[in-house]
Amino acid sequence: MKLLVIGSGGREHALAWRLLQSKRVEHVYVAPGNGGTALMKGASNVALSDPQALADFVRAQDIALTVVGPEAPLAQGVVDTFRAQALKIFGPTRAAAQLESSKDFAKAFMVRHHIPTAAYQTFTDPLAAHDYINAQGAPIVIKADGLAAGKGVVVAMSLNEAHEAVDAMLGDGSLGPAGARVVIEECLLGEEASFIVLCDGKNIFPLATSQDHKRLKDADQGPNTGGMGAYSPAPVVTPIIFERAMKEVIEPTIHGMAADGIPFTGFLYAGLMISQGDDATCPIKVLEFNCRMGDPETQPIMMRVRSDLLSVFEHGVNGTLDQAQIDWDPRTALGVVMASHNYPDTPRLGDAITGIPTEAPDCVVFHAGTSLKDHVLQTSGGRVLCVTALDESVRATQKRAYDTIQKIQFDGAQYRTDIGWRALEA
Ligand code: AMP
Ligand code: GLY
Repeated sequence: MKLLVIGSGGREHALAWRLLQSKRVEHVYVAPGNGGTALMKGASNVALSDPQALADFVRAQDIALTVVGPEAPLAQGVVDTFRAQALKIFGPTRAAAQLESSKDFAKAFMVRHHIPTAAYQTFTDPLAAHDYINAQGAPIVIKADGLAAGKGVVVAMSLNEAHEAVDAMLGDGSLGPAGARVVIEECLLGEEASFIVLCDGKNIFPLATSQDHKRLKDADQGPNTGGMGAYSPAPVVTPIIFERAMKEVIEPTIHGMAADGIPFTGFLYAGLMISQGDDATCPIKVLEFNCRMGDPETQPIMMRVRSDLLSVFEHGVNGTLDQAQIDWDPRTALGVVMASHNYPDTPRLGDAITGIPTEAPDCVVFHAGTSLKDHVLQTSGGRVLCVTALDESVRATQKRAYDTIQKIQFDGAQYRTDIGWRALEA
């Protein structure tokens, strides 16, 4: 069977890598892919992004199933294009992907269906937004309504910062149309977790729990990024929290989408804020929905899959996720992102990468912003690699990942040295 994975990040490298271990998979195409998927045996990159061009490619190559990694092609309607031509694809339609592509849509949806989230209001008029901020006080959170590649959220600790964010987005158009409307919401406290499930429109299949590190620097300092590392399982998601997240967030979301006439298919990622306190009563609130797997959460999650991943996606597109199963490795998986010089502002590209080991037991180096130029691997994006290990304890897994990192070089490489710290304390 031939498969297509759409995307170019570490998430897509990890999905393609795990899918290739299925006995039934003969080849995985990755569009557009990266240096890692170009080098992977059994995979090849395809330089296509237009939904119809991808559909034509799938038909020409007789590809059985397509999995979509990132949000942009979903918001473009790639799933709608494929389905209209009876091609099998796992992901949400453009309408359902609004849960991620419009924060205002997601907030209104949550209020309508009584899904717990931060109190908010939406604005297009800067004066009204400034008045609301003054009335609410700081800290307060300003979010661009549309997709902004991880740059659309400002957690403002002061009124000044909040007003500046509004002026930049609504006044100066700093984020373009994505920031022409903003959601302003209450600042929540607690510990974040990534709660990711697969849906086929009615059945829900939860993946292993995970947690991401959004800030650039150790001890959660510095600017927000797309994610500097992740691990699975996440101890904060205890069995009680897991049950409650399913009942209070995931089930009402899937049922609510179906009731609204927009059945949800694909990955649903709820970013949760779990307050301190008793697991049975502490508030669990939704920070955001994504309509895709997380990056880098996917990398450790894929390391823990011990059974055939293809069959899960087949159940996903056939509406039989109630029969899906994954045998999870009980060990801890942990991925550390190596980012390029000047990430997240304006990452420098074109630095040569050396030292990636070809064999490292229970450790896989997933590529993200890498490309091959004249057979030399070089940086081509902000997040470059995700070094992902598996071991018995959080500490042993950390050591395994960081030992491999020591062998890898590129100029200006930045990485956190404390990925997994919360799990160590748990
Ligand atoms: P989002 O893209 O909505 O996940 O926001 C990115 C990051 O901003 C989240 O992972 C949180 O760390 C932070 N964040 C978003 N919304 C809030 C909120 N209401 N309160 C506190 N932090 C938030
Ligand atoms: N790691 C966060 C995200 O994928 O949105």
